[in-house]
Amino acid sequence: MKYIDEKSPAKLNLILDVLDKREDGYHEILSVMQTVFFCDVLRLTMTERKKITMSSNLDYLPNDGDNLCVRAAYLFFKTAEIKSSGLHIHAHKQIPVAAGLGGGSANAAAVLRALNRYHGNIFTMDELVALAAKLGSDVPFCVRGGTQLAGGRGDVLEQLDPLPFCYVVLCKPQRKLSTASVFARFSQEGKQVQPDVPGFLEALKRQDLATCASLMQNALADEKLYEDLPDILGIMRDNGAFGAAMSGAGPTSFGLFESAEIAQVAARALQRKYEGVFVTSVRGSVDAE
Ligand code: C5P
Repeated sequence: MKYIDEKSPAKLNLILDVLDKREDGYHEILSVMQTVFFCDVLRLTMTERKKITMSSNLDYLPNDGDNLCVRAAYLFFKTAEIKSSGLHIHAHKQIPVAAGLGGGSANAAAVLRALNRYHGNIFTMDELVALAAKLGSDVPFCVRGGTQLAGGRGDVLEQLDPLPFCYVVLCKPQRKLSTASVFARFSQEGKQVQPDVPGFLEALKRQDLATCASLMQNALADEKLYEDLPDILGIMRDNGAFGAAMSGAGPTSFGLFESAEIAQVAARALQRKYEGVFVTSVRGSVDAE
Protein backbone atom coordinates (compact mmCIF):
# COMPACT_ATOMS: atom_id res chain seq x y z
CA MET A 1 0.00 0.00 0.00
CA LYS A 2 1.36 3.38 -0.96
CA TYR A 3 1.67 6.05 1.71
CA ILE A 4 3.11 9.53 2.13
CA ASP A 5 4.24 11.04 5.42
CA GLU A 6 3.79 14.80 5.56
CA LYS A 7 4.91 17.12 8.35
CA SER A 8 2.35 19.64 9.48
CA PRO A 9 4.15 22.47 11.30
CA ALA A 10 2.46 24.91 13.68
CA LYS A 11 2.26 28.64 12.99
CA LEU A 12 2.74 31.67 15.18
CA ASN A 13 1.30 35.13 14.74
CA LEU A 14 4.43 37.14 15.56
CA ILE A 15 2.31 40.28 15.42
CA LEU A 16 -1.45 40.45 14.84
CA ASP A 17 -3.55 43.54 14.27
CA VAL A 18 -7.31 43.34 13.75
CA LEU A 19 -8.89 46.03 11.62
CA ASP A 20 -12.51 46.36 10.54
CA LYS A 21 -15.30 43.82 10.58
CA ARG A 22 -16.25 42.96 7.00
CA GLU A 23 -19.64 42.45 5.43
CA ASP A 24 -19.02 38.70 5.24
CA GLY A 25 -18.65 38.61 9.06
CA TYR A 26 -14.88 38.11 9.04
CA HIS A 27 -12.41 40.69 10.37
CA GLU A 28 -9.75 42.25 8.24
CA ILE A 29 -6.39 41.41 9.81
CA LEU A 30 -2.74 42.30 9.33
CA SER A 31 -0.37 39.72 10.74
CA VAL A 32 3.17 38.48 10.34
CA MET A 33 2.92 34.71 10.48
CA GLN A 34 5.77 32.31 11.09
CA THR A 35 6.26 28.56 10.73
CA VAL A 36 8.00 26.71 13.57
CA PHE A 37 9.50 23.20 13.74
CA PHE A 38 6.92 21.98 16.29
CA CYS A 39 4.64 19.80 14.17
CA ASP A 40 2.08 17.04 13.74
CA VAL A 41 2.82 14.25 11.28
CA LEU A 42 0.20 12.97 8.83
CA ARG A 43 0.33 9.62 7.05
CA LEU A 44 -1.75 9.51 3.88
CA THR A 45 -2.35 5.95 2.68
CA MET A 46 -3.85 5.38 -0.76
CA THR A 47 -6.52 2.67 -0.49
CA GLU A 48 -8.81 0.74 -2.83
CA ARG A 49 -11.98 1.66 -0.92
CA LYS A 50 -12.98 4.81 -2.83
CA LYS A 51 -13.65 6.49 0.52
CA ILE A 52 -11.81 9.06 2.57
CA THR A 53 -11.31 7.92 6.16
CA MET A 54 -9.37 9.39 9.05
CA SER A 55 -7.91 8.45 12.42
CA SER A 56 -5.68 10.16 14.97
CA ASN A 57 -3.91 9.58 18.28
CA LEU A 58 -6.55 11.82 20.00
CA ASP A 59 -9.85 10.08 20.72
CA TYR A 60 -11.83 13.34 20.91
CA LEU A 61 -11.02 14.57 17.40
CA PRO A 62 -13.76 14.08 14.77
CA ASN A 63 -12.79 11.51 12.15
CA ASP A 64 -15.55 12.33 9.69
CA GLY A 65 -16.38 15.19 7.33
CA ASP A 66 -16.12 17.60 10.29
CA ASN A 67 -12.38 17.14 10.29
CA LEU A 68 -10.66 19.75 8.13
CA CYS A 69 -8.25 17.09 6.78
CA VAL A 70 -11.14 15.09 5.31
CA ARG A 71 -12.68 18.26 3.87
CA ALA A 72 -9.30 19.20 2.35
CA ALA A 73 -8.99 15.80 0.67
CA TYR A 74 -12.54 15.94 -0.76
CA LEU A 75 -11.94 19.48 -2.02
CA PHE A 76 -8.65 18.44 -3.64
CA PHE A 77 -10.13 15.41 -5.45
CA LYS A 78 -13.24 17.32 -6.55
CA THR A 79 -11.28 20.29 -7.92
CA ALA A 80 -8.72 18.03 -9.59
CA GLU A 81 -11.56 15.91 -11.00
CA ILE A 82 -9.98 12.72 -9.65
CA LYS A 83 -12.76 10.17 -9.22
CA SER A 84 -11.35 6.87 -7.92
CA SER A 85 -9.79 8.25 -4.78
CA GLY A 86 -9.50 5.98 -1.75
CA LEU A 87 -7.55 7.57 1.06
CA HIS A 88 -6.91 7.07 4.76
CA ILE A 89 -5.38 9.92 6.75
CA HIS A 90 -3.80 9.24 10.12
CA ALA A 91 -2.84 12.33 12.11
CA HIS A 92 -0.26 11.99 14.84
CA LYS A 93 -1.08 15.15 16.79
CA GLN A 94 1.37 16.95 18.96
CA ILE A 95 0.23 20.55 18.39
CA PRO A 96 -2.42 21.38 21.03
CA VAL A 97 -5.92 21.60 19.54
CA ALA A 98 -7.78 24.96 19.44
CA ALA A 99 -4.73 26.72 20.80
CA GLY A 100 -3.89 29.58 18.38
CA LEU A 101 -1.13 27.53 16.74
CA GLY A 102 -3.08 26.67 13.59
CA GLY A 103 -2.88 22.91 14.20
CA GLY A 104 -6.07 21.99 12.30
CA SER A 105 -5.32 24.48 9.51
CA ALA A 106 -1.78 23.09 9.20
CA ASN A 107 -3.19 19.55 8.93
CA ALA A 108 -5.53 20.57 6.10
CA ALA A 109 -2.67 22.37 4.36
CA ALA A 110 -0.45 19.29 4.71
CA VAL A 111 -3.16 17.14 3.08
CA LEU A 112 -3.36 19.57 0.13
CA ARG A 113 0.44 19.68 -0.26
CA ALA A 114 0.88 15.91 -0.01
CA LEU A 115 -1.95 15.08 -2.45
CA ASN A 116 -0.73 17.67 -4.90
CA ARG A 117 2.78 16.24 -4.85
CA TYR A 118 1.46 12.67 -5.15
CA HIS A 119 -0.59 13.67 -8.21
CA GLY A 120 2.33 15.31 -10.01
CA ASN A 121 1.77 18.91 -8.84
CA ILE A 122 -1.41 19.43 -10.84
CA PHE A 123 -1.99 22.70 -9.02
CA THR A 124 0.50 25.55 -8.85
CA MET A 125 1.32 26.96 -5.42
CA ASP A 126 -1.04 29.92 -6.07
CA GLU A 127 -3.86 27.54 -7.03
CA LEU A 128 -3.27 25.45 -3.92
CA VAL A 129 -3.38 28.59 -1.76
CA ALA A 130 -6.69 29.59 -3.38
CA LEU A 131 -8.11 26.12 -2.61
CA ALA A 132 -6.84 26.43 0.96
CA ALA A 133 -8.79 29.67 1.47
CA LYS A 134 -12.01 27.67 1.01
CA LEU A 135 -11.14 25.65 4.12
CA GLY A 136 -10.28 28.39 6.62
CA SER A 137 -8.53 31.72 7.11
CA ASP A 138 -5.18 30.27 8.31
CA VAL A 139 -4.96 27.41 5.80
CA PRO A 140 -3.43 29.52 2.95
CA PHE A 141 -0.52 30.53 5.19
CA CYS A 142 -0.04 26.96 6.33
CA VAL A 143 0.23 25.80 2.70
CA ARG A 144 3.02 28.30 1.97
CA GLY A 145 4.71 28.63 5.36
CA GLY A 146 7.91 30.48 6.20
CA THR A 147 7.53 34.13 7.17
CA GLN A 148 4.57 35.86 5.49
CA LEU A 149 2.52 39.00 5.87
CA ALA A 150 -1.15 37.97 5.99
CA GLY A 151 -3.87 40.46 5.10
CA GLY A 152 -7.54 40.14 4.17
CA ARG A 153 -9.08 37.61 6.57
CA GLY A 154 -5.65 35.93 6.66
CA ASP A 155 -5.78 34.65 3.09
CA VAL A 156 -3.89 37.43 1.24
CA LEU A 157 -0.21 36.59 1.58
CA GLU A 158 3.02 38.38 0.89
CA GLN A 159 6.36 36.65 1.31
CA LEU A 160 8.68 38.45 3.73
CA ASP A 161 12.36 38.18 4.56
CA PRO A 162 12.74 35.23 6.92
CA LEU A 163 12.78 35.92 10.64
CA PRO A 164 16.39 35.47 11.85
CA PHE A 165 16.82 32.04 13.43
CA CYS A 166 15.84 31.85 17.08
CA TYR A 167 14.43 29.42 19.63
CA VAL A 168 10.80 29.51 20.63
CA VAL A 169 9.08 28.50 23.86
CA LEU A 170 5.36 27.80 23.60
CA CYS A 171 3.09 27.82 26.63
CA LYS A 172 -0.54 26.78 26.38
CA PRO A 173 -2.67 27.39 29.46
CA GLN A 174 -5.91 25.44 29.96
CA ARG A 175 -8.34 28.15 28.72
CA LYS A 176 -10.55 26.98 25.80
CA LEU A 177 -12.25 29.55 23.57
CA SER A 178 -13.39 29.30 19.97
CA THR A 179 -11.80 31.61 17.40
CA ALA A 180 -15.28 32.90 16.51
CA SER A 181 -16.04 33.85 20.14
CA VAL A 182 -12.70 35.65 20.55
CA PHE A 183 -13.34 37.73 17.40
CA ALA A 184 -16.94 38.39 18.53
CA ARG A 185 -15.71 39.71 21.87
CA PHE A 186 -13.12 41.85 20.07
CA SER A 187 -15.98 43.40 18.02
CA GLN A 188 -17.85 44.29 21.21
CA GLU A 189 -14.94 45.51 23.33
CA GLY A 190 -12.84 47.23 20.66
CA LYS A 191 -9.07 47.30 20.45
CA GLN A 192 -7.16 47.29 23.76
CA VAL A 193 -3.65 47.45 22.23
CA GLN A 194 -2.33 48.84 18.94
CA PRO A 195 0.29 46.54 17.40
CA ASP A 196 2.92 48.42 15.35
CA VAL A 197 2.94 46.26 12.19
CA PRO A 198 4.85 48.83 10.02
CA GLY A 199 7.55 49.10 12.72
CA PHE A 200 7.78 45.31 12.88
CA LEU A 201 8.14 45.06 9.09
CA GLU A 202 10.91 47.68 9.06
CA ALA A 203 12.79 45.83 11.78
CA LEU A 204 12.35 42.56 9.87
CA LYS A 205 13.81 44.17 6.75
CA ARG A 206 16.87 45.17 8.82
CA GLN A 207 16.92 41.59 10.22
CA ASP A 208 16.81 43.18 13.67
CA LEU A 209 15.46 40.29 15.73
CA ALA A 210 15.54 42.11 19.07
CA THR A 211 13.36 44.98 17.76
CA CYS A 212 10.97 42.56 16.02
CA ALA A 213 10.59 40.61 19.26
CA SER A 214 10.05 43.77 21.33
CA LEU A 215 7.24 44.82 18.94
CA MET A 216 5.38 41.49 19.03
CA GLN A 217 1.79 42.11 20.08
CA ASN A 218 -1.66 40.68 19.50
CA ALA A 219 -4.83 42.81 19.25
CA LEU A 220 -6.89 39.77 20.38
CA ALA A 221 -4.88 39.35 23.59
CA ASP A 222 -7.42 40.68 26.06
CA GLU A 223 -6.11 40.12 29.58
CA LYS A 224 -9.65 39.95 30.94
CA LEU A 225 -10.24 36.94 28.71
CA TYR A 226 -6.85 35.29 29.24
CA GLU A 227 -6.14 35.66 32.95
CA ASP A 228 -2.82 33.74 32.75
CA LEU A 229 -1.41 35.90 29.96
CA PRO A 230 0.47 38.56 32.04
CA ASP A 231 1.98 35.82 34.21
CA ILE A 232 3.15 33.71 31.23
CA LEU A 233 4.56 36.67 29.29
CA GLY A 234 6.27 37.90 32.49
CA ILE A 235 7.93 34.50 33.12
CA MET A 236 9.15 34.40 29.49
CA ARG A 237 10.63 37.93 29.71
CA ASP A 238 12.13 37.43 33.20
CA ASN A 239 13.86 34.32 31.86
CA GLY A 240 15.59 35.90 28.90
CA ALA A 241 13.00 36.15 26.09
CA PHE A 242 13.70 38.88 23.50
CA GLY A 243 9.93 39.34 23.49
CA ALA A 244 6.73 37.37 24.04
CA ALA A 245 3.13 37.50 22.80
CA MET A 246 -0.03 35.45 22.38
CA SER A 247 -0.55 33.64 19.06
CA GLY A 248 -3.76 33.88 17.02
CA ALA A 249 -6.96 33.69 19.05
CA GLY A 250 -4.96 32.10 21.89
CA PRO A 251 -4.59 30.83 24.45
CA THR A 252 -1.00 29.80 23.55
CA SER A 253 1.72 32.36 24.10
CA PHE A 254 5.28 32.17 22.87
CA GLY A 255 8.62 33.78 23.55
CA LEU A 256 11.65 34.14 21.28
CA PHE A 257 15.11 33.24 22.61
CA GLU A 258 18.70 33.60 21.46
CA SER A 259 19.88 30.14 22.52
CA ALA A 260 18.49 26.69 23.23
CA GLU A 261 19.95 26.87 26.76
CA ILE A 262 18.11 30.10 27.68
CA ALA A 263 14.91 28.72 26.10
CA GLN A 264 15.20 25.58 28.26
CA VAL A 265 15.62 27.68 31.42
CA ALA A 266 12.44 29.64 30.57
CA ALA A 267 10.58 26.41 29.72
CA ARG A 268 11.51 24.91 33.10
CA ALA A 269 10.29 28.06 34.87
CA LEU A 270 6.96 27.85 33.00
CA GLN A 271 6.62 24.10 33.64
CA ARG A 272 6.47 24.77 37.38
CA LYS A 273 3.05 26.34 36.78
CA TYR A 274 1.80 25.25 33.35
CA GLU A 275 1.47 21.89 31.60
CA GLY A 276 1.58 22.63 27.89
CA VAL A 277 5.16 23.91 27.49
CA PHE A 278 7.22 23.11 24.38
CA VAL A 279 10.61 24.27 23.09
CA THR A 280 11.07 24.61 19.33
CA SER A 281 12.64 26.99 16.81
CA VAL A 282 11.60 29.01 13.79
CA ARG A 283 11.45 27.15 10.47
CA GLY A 284 12.26 28.94 7.22
CA SER A 285 9.72 26.95 5.20
CA VAL A 286 7.25 24.09 5.58
CA ASP A 287 9.73 21.58 4.15
CA ALA A 288 12.89 22.82 5.89
CA GLU A 289 14.79 20.01 7.66
O1 C5P B 1 -11.68 30.98 8.92
P1 C5P B 1 -11.91 30.23 10.18
O2 C5P B 1 -12.88 29.10 10.01
O3 C5P B 1 -10.65 29.80 10.85
O4 C5P B 1 -12.58 31.28 11.17
C1 C5P B 1 -13.32 30.90 12.30
C2 C5P B 1 -14.15 32.08 12.76
O5 C5P B 1 -13.30 33.11 13.30
C3 C5P B 1 -14.94 32.76 11.65
O6 C5P B 1 -16.17 32.15 11.47
C4 C5P B 1 -15.06 34.18 12.18
O7 C5P B 1 -16.10 34.26 13.14
C5 C5P B 1 -13.77 34.40 12.95
N1 C5P B 1 -12.75 35.09 12.12
C6 C5P B 1 -12.88 36.45 11.89
N2 C5P B 1 -11.94 37.09 11.13
C7 C5P B 1 -10.88 36.43 10.63
C8 C5P B 1 -10.73 35.04 10.87
C9 C5P B 1 -11.70 34.40 11.62
O8 C5P B 1 -13.83 37.10 12.35
N3 C5P B 1 -9.97 37.10 9.92
